[in-house]
Amino acid sequence: MALLFGAGWVYLANGSLPVAVADRGLPFEQQLVDIPLDARIGRGKQPAPFYPNQVVYEAGASIYREHCASCHGDPTSNVEAAKWMYPKAPQLWKQHDDSDVVGVSDDEPGDTFWKVKNGIRLTGMPAYSHLLSEEQMWDVSLLLKAANQPLPDSVKELLSKK
Ligand code: HEC
Repeated sequence: MALLFGAGWVYLANGSLPVAVADRGLPFEQQLVDIPLDARIGRGKQPAPFYPNQVVYEAGASIYREHCASCHGDPTSNVEAAKWMYPKAPQLWKQHDDSDVVGVSDDEPGDTFWKVKNGIRLTGMPAYSHLLSEEQMWDVSLLLKAANQPLPDSVKELLSKK
């Protein structure tokens, strides 16, 4: 037992596991993270407690600008450094190749709300339950659901304000 532990320690301390952003991922690393994350969200998912309207989108846009755009970009620009995070911070206003999905517009608002509220461990994604109210987290989640829809000019301006 002690021998096994010792061997494991030497392996970790030797520095041959991938720890740098530029290192190649371990086999199945992405699945190891995604499968339990999806299962956990599936258990804890809630429906949005209100419907979106212009006021909700404007509130969501101000919150997004202040708390999220520095990693996730905005409709007019992407964040260069986000590519060099591991995992990368997805650009939430970018259209996916070969589909009309923009960012997480194909996810339920409840999925996005869970990620915003609880964060994602061992990634740069913070848990906002300590920084935003439930209502604010729904505002931004409902806005991201509508990222592939035409949004009022006031919302676009708030999102891209520098
Ligand atoms: C410090 C950088 C950073 C900030 C600030 C940040 N995020 Fe993230 N976020 C990340 C990273 C990195 C990931 C990727 C996690 C992964 O791949 O599992 C992520 C993932 C996400 C996802 C999941 C994307 C997907 O494809 O499933 C959503 C939704 C999200 N963030 C929303 C937000 C919102 C909303 C805010 C602001 C309230 C925010 N994030 C602030 C770094 C950040």
